[in-house]
Amino acid sequence: MTVARPILIAASVLTADFSRLGEECVALEQAGVDRIQWDVMDGRFVPNLTFGPDVIASVRDKVSLGFEAHLMVEHPDELAHRYAEAGCELLIVHAEACRHLHRTLDAIGGLGIAAGVALNPATPAETVANVLDLCDMVLVMTVNPGFGGQKYLASMEPKISQVRDMVAASSTGIRNIDIEVDGGIAPETAAGAVKAGANVLVAGSSLYRDGGSWQDIDKLADSVKSIRSVAESV
Ligand code: DX5
Repeated sequence: MTVARPILIAASVLTADFSRLGEECVALEQAGVDRIQWDVMDGRFVPNLTFGPDVIASVRDKVSLGFEAHLMVEHPDELAHRYAEAGCELLIVHAEACRHLHRTLDAIGGLGIAAGVALNPATPAETVANVLDLCDMVLVMTVNPGFGGQKYLASMEPKISQVRDMVAASSTGIRNIDIEVDGGIAPETAAGAVKAGANVLVAGSSLYRDGGSWQDIDKLADSVKSIRSVAESV
Protein backbone atom coordinates (compact mmCIF):
# COMPACT_ATOMS: atom_id res chain seq x y z
CA MET A 1 0.00 0.00 0.00
CA THR A 2 1.44 3.36 -0.96
CA VAL A 3 1.11 5.98 1.74
CA ALA A 4 -0.10 9.39 0.49
CA ARG A 5 2.96 11.60 0.64
CA PRO A 6 2.87 15.07 2.24
CA ILE A 7 3.15 18.13 0.02
CA LEU A 8 6.63 19.62 0.34
CA ILE A 9 7.96 22.86 -1.11
CA ALA A 10 11.64 22.80 -2.05
CA ALA A 11 12.97 26.27 -2.82
CA SER A 12 15.47 26.56 -5.65
CA VAL A 13 17.99 29.31 -4.96
CA LEU A 14 18.90 29.56 -8.65
CA THR A 15 16.98 32.85 -8.82
CA ALA A 16 18.16 34.14 -5.44
CA ASP A 17 20.73 36.91 -4.92
CA PHE A 18 23.99 34.94 -5.16
CA SER A 19 25.82 37.68 -3.30
CA ARG A 20 23.52 37.00 -0.31
CA LEU A 21 23.02 33.23 -0.34
CA GLY A 22 23.20 32.95 3.44
CA GLU A 23 20.57 35.63 3.98
CA GLU A 24 18.44 34.15 1.20
CA CYS A 25 18.44 30.69 2.82
CA VAL A 26 17.59 32.16 6.23
CA ALA A 27 14.74 34.11 4.58
CA LEU A 28 13.45 30.96 2.84
CA GLU A 29 13.47 29.10 6.15
CA GLN A 30 11.51 31.92 7.76
CA ALA A 31 9.18 32.03 4.75
CA GLY A 32 8.19 28.43 5.44
CA VAL A 33 9.77 26.29 2.72
CA ASP A 34 10.45 22.65 3.60
CA ARG A 35 13.93 22.41 2.13
CA ILE A 36 16.43 24.08 -0.16
CA GLN A 37 17.31 22.74 -3.60
CA TRP A 38 20.77 23.56 -4.91
CA ASP A 39 20.84 23.46 -8.72
CA VAL A 40 24.34 22.17 -9.30
CA MET A 41 25.41 22.74 -12.90
CA ASP A 42 28.79 21.92 -14.49
CA GLY A 43 28.49 23.80 -17.79
CA ARG A 44 28.67 20.43 -19.62
CA PHE A 45 25.51 18.47 -18.84
CA VAL A 46 23.66 21.81 -19.02
CA PRO A 47 24.87 25.12 -20.52
CA ASN A 48 25.20 26.85 -17.17
CA LEU A 49 27.59 26.77 -14.20
CA THR A 50 26.57 27.19 -10.57
CA PHE A 51 27.33 25.90 -7.09
CA GLY A 52 30.40 23.97 -5.94
CA PRO A 53 30.25 22.00 -2.68
CA ASP A 54 32.15 24.71 -0.79
CA VAL A 55 29.43 27.27 -1.55
CA ILE A 56 26.81 24.94 -0.08
CA ALA A 57 29.00 24.10 2.92
CA SER A 58 29.39 27.84 3.63
CA VAL A 59 25.62 28.16 4.09
CA ARG A 60 24.96 24.81 5.79
CA ASP A 61 25.07 26.00 9.40
CA LYS A 62 23.00 29.12 8.81
CA VAL A 63 19.73 27.18 8.55
CA SER A 64 18.27 23.92 9.84
CA LEU A 65 16.43 23.19 6.58
CA GLY A 66 17.35 20.04 4.67
CA PHE A 67 19.50 20.55 1.57
CA GLU A 68 19.09 18.60 -1.66
CA ALA A 69 21.60 18.81 -4.49
CA HIS A 70 20.17 18.49 -8.01
CA LEU A 71 23.28 17.31 -9.81
CA MET A 72 22.98 18.51 -13.39
CA VAL A 73 26.49 17.29 -14.09
CA GLU A 74 28.17 14.90 -16.52
CA HIS A 75 29.99 12.85 -13.87
CA PRO A 76 27.86 12.63 -10.69
CA ASP A 77 29.80 9.61 -9.40
CA GLU A 78 32.92 11.75 -9.07
CA LEU A 79 31.13 14.55 -7.18
CA ALA A 80 28.45 12.87 -5.05
CA HIS A 81 30.55 12.43 -1.90
CA ARG A 82 31.63 16.11 -2.02
CA TYR A 83 28.00 17.28 -1.89
CA ALA A 84 27.21 14.82 0.88
CA GLU A 85 30.17 16.17 2.87
CA ALA A 86 28.92 19.72 2.19
CA GLY A 87 25.71 18.87 4.06
CA CYS A 88 23.24 17.69 1.42
CA GLU A 89 20.97 14.93 2.75
CA LEU A 90 19.52 14.07 -0.67
CA LEU A 91 21.41 13.82 -3.95
CA ILE A 92 19.49 13.79 -7.23
CA VAL A 93 21.34 12.44 -10.25
CA HIS A 94 20.16 12.60 -13.84
CA ALA A 95 19.48 9.20 -15.41
CA GLU A 96 20.88 10.64 -18.65
CA ALA A 97 24.28 11.27 -17.01
CA CYS A 98 24.69 7.82 -15.44
CA ARG A 99 26.13 4.97 -17.46
CA HIS A 100 25.52 2.67 -14.46
CA LEU A 101 22.51 4.26 -12.75
CA HIS A 102 21.91 1.30 -10.41
CA ARG A 103 25.49 1.43 -9.16
CA THR A 104 25.39 5.22 -8.76
CA LEU A 105 22.21 5.15 -6.68
CA ASP A 106 23.56 2.29 -4.58
CA ALA A 107 26.74 4.28 -3.95
CA ILE A 108 24.72 7.33 -2.82
CA GLY A 109 22.81 5.10 -0.41
CA GLY A 110 26.18 3.87 0.78
CA LEU A 111 27.01 7.45 1.79
CA GLY A 112 24.12 7.23 4.26
CA ILE A 113 21.95 9.80 2.49
CA ALA A 114 18.86 9.73 0.28
CA ALA A 115 19.04 9.17 -3.47
CA GLY A 116 16.89 10.61 -6.24
CA VAL A 117 16.76 10.22 -10.01
CA ALA A 118 15.86 13.08 -12.35
CA LEU A 119 14.30 12.53 -15.78
CA ASN A 120 14.63 15.17 -18.49
CA PRO A 121 11.50 15.86 -20.55
CA ALA A 122 12.51 13.47 -23.35
CA THR A 123 13.45 10.61 -20.98
CA PRO A 124 10.71 7.98 -20.46
CA ALA A 125 9.38 7.02 -17.05
CA GLU A 126 10.37 3.39 -17.68
CA THR A 127 14.00 4.46 -17.20
CA VAL A 128 13.56 4.16 -13.42
CA ALA A 129 11.59 0.88 -13.48
CA ASN A 130 14.56 -1.21 -12.36
CA VAL A 131 16.00 1.13 -9.74
CA LEU A 132 12.97 2.11 -7.65
CA ASP A 133 14.26 -0.10 -4.84
CA LEU A 134 17.23 2.29 -4.58
CA CYS A 135 15.22 5.53 -4.89
CA ASP A 136 13.89 7.83 -2.24
CA MET A 137 12.60 10.24 -4.88
CA VAL A 138 11.98 10.51 -8.61
CA LEU A 139 12.22 14.00 -10.10
CA VAL A 140 10.20 14.58 -13.27
CA MET A 141 11.63 17.69 -14.90
CA THR A 142 8.92 20.05 -16.14
CA VAL A 143 11.43 22.16 -18.06
CA ASN A 144 14.64 21.37 -19.91
CA PRO A 145 17.34 21.80 -17.26
CA GLY A 146 19.82 24.66 -17.13
CA PHE A 147 17.93 27.81 -16.27
CA GLY A 148 15.24 29.18 -13.98
CA GLY A 149 12.21 31.12 -15.15
CA GLN A 150 11.20 28.76 -17.97
CA LYS A 151 7.65 27.80 -18.95
CA TYR A 152 6.10 24.79 -17.20
CA LEU A 153 5.69 21.81 -19.55
CA ALA A 154 2.18 20.50 -18.84
CA SER A 155 2.95 17.77 -21.38
CA MET A 156 4.99 16.12 -18.60
CA GLU A 157 1.89 15.45 -16.48
CA PRO A 158 1.16 12.02 -18.03
CA LYS A 159 4.74 11.03 -17.23
CA ILE A 160 4.31 12.16 -13.61
CA SER A 161 1.26 9.88 -13.41
CA GLN A 162 3.21 7.04 -14.99
CA VAL A 163 5.91 7.35 -12.35
CA ARG A 164 3.26 7.52 -9.63
CA ASP A 165 1.67 4.31 -10.91
CA MET A 166 5.05 2.58 -11.20
CA VAL A 167 5.87 3.46 -7.61
CA ALA A 168 2.46 2.27 -6.40
CA ALA A 169 2.76 -1.00 -8.30
CA SER A 170 6.36 -1.75 -7.40
CA SER A 171 7.30 -4.09 -4.60
CA THR A 172 8.80 -0.97 -3.02
CA GLY A 173 5.38 0.71 -2.96
CA ILE A 174 5.73 0.86 0.78
CA ARG A 175 9.11 2.52 0.45
CA ASN A 176 7.47 5.98 0.42
CA ILE A 177 9.10 7.32 -2.72
CA ASP A 178 8.51 11.02 -3.24
CA ILE A 179 7.71 12.35 -6.69
CA GLU A 180 9.20 15.77 -7.32
CA VAL A 181 8.64 18.26 -10.14
CA ASP A 182 10.98 21.05 -11.05
CA GLY A 183 10.58 23.89 -13.50
CA GLY A 184 7.91 26.54 -13.91
CA ILE A 185 6.18 25.60 -10.64
CA ALA A 186 3.90 28.43 -9.48
CA PRO A 187 0.38 28.78 -8.04
CA GLU A 188 -1.01 28.52 -11.60
CA THR A 189 0.83 25.27 -12.42
CA ALA A 190 1.06 23.45 -9.07
CA ALA A 191 -2.43 21.93 -9.22
CA GLY A 192 -1.75 20.13 -12.50
CA ALA A 193 1.48 18.66 -11.19
CA VAL A 194 -0.07 17.48 -7.90
CA LYS A 195 -3.17 16.08 -9.62
CA ALA A 196 -0.79 14.08 -11.85
CA GLY A 197 0.95 12.63 -8.79
CA ALA A 198 3.73 14.96 -7.61
CA ASN A 199 4.12 15.74 -3.91
CA VAL A 200 7.41 17.67 -3.83
CA LEU A 201 7.34 20.98 -5.68
CA VAL A 202 10.54 22.82 -6.55
CA ALA A 203 9.89 26.52 -6.90
CA GLY A 204 12.45 29.14 -7.85
CA SER A 205 11.51 32.22 -9.84
CA SER A 206 7.84 32.12 -8.80
CA LEU A 207 8.89 32.68 -5.19
CA TYR A 208 10.66 35.92 -6.14
CA ARG A 209 8.45 37.32 -8.89
CA ASP A 210 6.12 39.27 -6.57
CA GLY A 211 8.87 41.07 -4.71
CA GLY A 212 9.86 38.33 -2.28
CA SER A 213 13.50 38.38 -1.23
CA TRP A 214 15.77 38.25 1.82
CA GLN A 215 14.77 41.88 2.26
CA ASP A 216 11.03 41.20 2.09
CA ILE A 217 10.36 37.88 3.82
CA ASP A 218 6.61 38.52 4.09
CA LYS A 219 6.27 38.57 0.30
CA LEU A 220 8.41 35.43 0.07
CA ALA A 221 6.15 33.74 2.64
CA ASP A 222 3.05 34.79 0.70
CA SER A 223 4.46 33.16 -2.44
CA VAL A 224 5.22 29.95 -0.55
CA LYS A 225 1.74 29.94 1.00
CA SER A 226 0.09 30.47 -2.42
CA ILE A 227 1.78 27.42 -3.91
CA ARG A 228 1.18 25.31 -0.82
CA SER A 229 -2.51 26.17 -0.55
CA VAL A 230 -3.10 25.34 -4.22
CA ALA A 231 -1.21 22.06 -3.89
CA GLU A 232 -2.96 21.02 -0.68
CA SER A 233 -6.40 21.81 -2.06
CA VAL A 234 -6.07 19.31 -4.93
C1 DX5 B 1 16.41 24.01 -14.22
C2 DX5 B 1 16.34 24.27 -12.75
C3 DX5 B 1 15.11 25.10 -12.46
C4 DX5 B 1 15.05 25.61 -11.05
C5 DX5 B 1 13.69 26.21 -10.74
O1 DX5 B 1 17.62 23.44 -14.52
O2 DX5 B 1 16.30 23.02 -12.06
O3 DX5 B 1 13.99 24.32 -12.74
O4 DX5 B 1 15.29 24.56 -10.20
O5 DX5 B 1 13.35 27.05 -11.79
P1 DX5 B 1 11.98 27.88 -11.84
O6 DX5 B 1 12.45 29.30 -11.82
O7 DX5 B 1 11.30 27.47 -13.10
O8 DX5 B 1 11.15 27.53 -10.62
